Formats: sequence, structure tokens, C-alpha cells
Amino acid sequence: MDEFKAEHLLVTGGAGFIGSMYVRQSLAAYPTRRITILDKLTYAGNLANLAGIVDEPRLTFVQGDIADPPTVRACLEGVDTVVNFAAETHVDRSIQDAGSFVLTDVYGLQVLLNAALTAGIRRFVQVSTDEVYGDIESGASRESDPLLPRSPYAASKAGGELLARSYAITHGLNVVITRGSNTFGPRQHPEKLVPLFITNALDGKPLPVYGDGLQVRDWIAVEDHCAGIEVVLRRGAAGEAYNIGGGHPLTNLRITEQILALCGRGPELIRHVRDRKAHDRRYALDCEKARTLGWAPTRPFAEALAQTVAWYRDNEDWWRPTLESSAFVEHVRQTYEGAVIG
Ligand code: NAD
Ligand code: TYD
Repeated sequence: MDEFKAEHLLVTGGAGFIGSMYVRQSLAAYPTRRITILDKLTYAGNLANLAGIVDEPRLTFVQGDIADPPTVRACLEGVDTVVNFAAETHVDRSIQDAGSFVLTDVYGLQVLLNAALTAGIRRFVQVSTDEVYGDIESGASRESDPLLPRSPYAASKAGGELLARSYAITHGLNVVITRGSNTFGPRQHPEKLVPLFITNALDGKPLPVYGDGLQVRDWIAVEDHCAGIEVVLRRGAAGEAYNIGGGHPLTNLRITEQILALCGRGPELIRHVRDRKAHDRRYALDCEKARTLGWAPTRPFAEALAQTVAWYRDNEDWWRPTLESSAFVEHVRQTYEGAVIG
């Protein structure tokens, strides 16, 4: 199989959770690769996520918006490959206000696609999500299944994906798409389930489980997710999408119990609170297509979760300021304090 060789990448959203891990792995695995990060540093972006690599001469950081054409044009000079992680990513925020989701995940992506086309970019990786398939009652989603997103976040990601696909079909831009499952690991913003529950448990605070907690997510370690994106970049067929799932389905209650045990706490911290609006009950991915490219997750779930808990325990300096300055997380905490259902 002929592999695509990326020499100079533009990684957008590279100061976020998954993007920063991708940059770390990529610089380590490919000693001649150069990377430019373009990141707006929204509430979710954090320069501390680049600790230890920020002085690497092969890395350039630019603070800016993917929706700003002149900035994007300048960042693309000399670049052959784009990997787009930049997005608004939190479902609960998208339910409160979807505007920024459309601006970044749809319009921003269109600006990026257009600039990539003009600049003659040879490969464009759009990082998408299993949430574009919507709620699935049984079985596992395949790449040929319809996109039936149900939250404003998932709808904006699906809109972005379809635009990326249209650039591949209409203009021949070399686009590949990854649809990753729920990802966990170090440096994830503490608004998401795993880091919120770890940091609450470490503090002895209640864990707000939405509804009955029997919703199912397929969990993947961030290192495995990034390895999947890299394999699709190198070997994916132009215009195609690839599911990247951990193959480790768990109910929210089950992962909550595991987090509590790893933090040395008991189930008395669990609070069942009012459910998320239109909460998707289950996601599941069939990853056979990515396996044919030679990718498979390698990290045992229990070990990866234990290491994630250890990382948060050892890196309070990273998360406490974020948690304390996060008006949204505080808002959610207060909302749910008055909405305990069990
Ligand atoms: P994140 O919220 O941690 O990081 C997003 C990054 O994008 C931040 O650094 C932010 O500053 C940056 N950003 C936001 N808007 C921008 C803009 N307009 N211009 C430039 N930069 C901007 O997100 P994440 O969890 O690392 O997710 C990365 C990508 O992976 C997203 O596209 C997301 O949809 C996708 N994804 C995430 C998961 C998951 O479980 N976290 C699963 C599947 C797919
Ligand atoms: P989240 O980490 O927000 O990811 P997503 O909604 O993209 O899957 O949530 C994961 C699951 O955990 C989801 O079913 C919602 C649920 N959840 C809670 O029960 N309580 C919480 O406080 C949060 C943040 C999420």
C-alpha cells in the first residue's frame, strides 16, 4: 500500500485535549516532521497542554481562528497536510447556545477547506465523531450509515463533515474523515465526564450522573484515537470516512463506579440528576474499515483509566485553575444541585 508522507502539517486545535496529544505523538514518531499549530485558545485551549514540546524547533504555535481567512492563508505557507481538530466540542454547551458551534465547526471548517484548496494542500484530515450517527439502539454504526445527529454539537460536526466531503467530490481536495468515539486521557477539560468525575471524586464532591446513567458510550484512550487518526492520514482512501472506536462500551454508571474506585471513593458520591435534553442513549462503532488499514486500539482500558486518574491526581496545577475559573462548570454544578432525582 502506498503511504501518504506528511512533511509539514498544520494542526488546528492543537492546544486542545486530543490535538495536543496528536502533536506530541507525531513529533516523537516522525523526527523530520514540522508542525504548525493554529489554535484560537478558547476556554478549552490551553498552552499548558504543550508543556515539554513548546520549545521544539520543529513546532510553531500561532494563536488564531480557523474562521479567519488571512490567518489561515498565512499558516498554510509551506504546509502539505492539514489535520483539523479545531472545534467547539461540548454537547451541554451546544444545548445552551449553538452559535459558536456553527461558526467554528461549520463555517470555520469551510474557510479552512477553501484555503487548503487554494494552497494546493495534498491531504486534509477532518477529525469528526461517532455522534454524527446519532443514537443507535442496537448493532454498530458503519461508515455507510446515514448521519442522523441529534444534538447541536453533533449536527454541526455532521454539517462540517458533509462540507469536507463536498470539497472532495466537487473540487478533488484529498479529504479523509475520522469518526472517533468517546475519548479519555490526560489534559481533557474538566467539563467532560471522565475528568469532571475524577476531579470531583478527588475533592470528595458529588458526581452528577444524568438520568438513570444507563447510556452507553464506547471509550477509547486518547493515544489510541491519535494513532487511528495518523493511520487514516497515511493510508486512508481519499474521500472516505473511518470509524475509530475503542471497542470498550460501558454505561455511564459503570465508568463512574470505576472512577470512584480508582479515586478511593464509594458510590455514595453518585447523584442522579435531571437528564440532558435529547440525551443519546447509545453509540457503537464498527471499526472493521480502519482495521483494514492496519489500525487497532492497543491500550487496555483499565490500565489507561488508572493512568488517567493518576495523571489528574499528580497534576492538580493543571486542572484546578481551569475548574475554578469555569463559569460553565459552576453553572452546571449549581443547576444540578437543585435537580437531584435519586
Ligand atoms: P477540545 O475542546 O479539548 O479542544 C478544541 C481545541 O480547538 C481547543 O484548543 C480550542 O482552543 C480550539 N478551537 C476552538 N475553536 C477554534 C477556532 N475557531 N479556531 C482555532 N482553534 C479553535 O476538543 P477535543 O476533545 O480535543 O476534540 C478535538 C476534536 O476531536 C474535535 O473536532 C472533536 O469534535 C473531535 N472528537 C472529540 C472526541 C472526544 O471524546 N473528546 C471524540 C471524537 C471526536
Ligand atoms: P461527555 O463527556 O459530555 O461526552 P458526550 O456527551 O460527547 O458523549 O459525556 C459522556 C456521557 O456522560 C454522556 O452520556 C453524558 C454523561 N454525563 C453525565 O452523566 N454527567 C456529566 O456531568 C457529564 C459531563 C456527562
